[in-house]
Amino acid sequence: MSDSRPIGIFDSGVGGTSIWKEIHQLLPLEKTIYLSDSKNAPYGIKTQKEIISLSIKNTEKLLEMGCKLIVVACNTATTNAIKILRDSYNVPIIGIEPAIKPAALKSRNKAIGILATRGTLASELFAQTSELYARDIRVIEVEGNGLVELIEGGKRNSSEARKLLKELLTPMLEARIDYLVLGCSHYPYLIPLLSKILPEEVKIIDSGEAVARQTKSVLQENKLLNTSVDTDQRPEFYTNVNRKVLEEILGSGAGNYKISELNF
Ligand code: SIN
Repeated sequence: MSDSRPIGIFDSGVGGTSIWKEIHQLLPLEKTIYLSDSKNAPYGIKTQKEIISLSIKNTEKLLEMGCKLIVVACNTATTNAIKILRDSYNVPIIGIEPAIKPAALKSRNKAIGILATRGTLASELFAQTSELYARDIRVIEVEGNGLVELIEGGKRNSSEARKLLKELLTPMLEARIDYLVLGCSHYPYLIPLLSKILPEEVKIIDSGEAVARQTKSVLQENKLLNTSVDTDQRPEFYTNVNRKVLEEILGSGAGNYKISELNF
């Protein structure tokens, strides 16, 4: 049995394409539809009620488009809304959580940094994960205020972004962290800058690969994998603002994707 229906992925903007890339690489036969809700970015400073309502709006749009599984490629939406989404819809829903566990297990200095949005750091799910895996570790939590806006504005490599990152990372460096967890799907796009600012011994962890592996195993368990090579697998991207930043972030392969502006 092969299921050619698409996988639906949404984020508060372009950042979740870091997760999409991992999924597309691991599951090249799967068709993907990505919703970039940039009009409402950043989610990280919104109330939980607002985050839930935006997550429902995006999920319903993807279900309307015929998706067989939903990936919430946004840490803020996952930590604030995934339970409600799972309770409300009859398709598998995969989320993305900050990779606290691997960082805490590997840290030699017993000090790790978490860079995430206010919405993620304040969530119950984040508190539970931190309590479960990092009880004996010093966790330096920093709100990445302003970073999503810079990435959405096409300024991820700017001097402004570099200056802000330096400021945000100072308490982590003072605490001698040896692992930095990227707790927002936008932040992997800052890795080129982060690598210049962080000492070499600080390792960066993001959750993209883990989410892709989880997506594959949930598709397998639910017999939802597409095994046919005859399907049109060209990924579709929809944004509710100007498509320029999305095109730029997807890079030179943009010709192989369908990118459209859509009011959702
Ligand atoms: C945001 O929209 O504030 C960030 C998205 C995320 O948490 O991944």
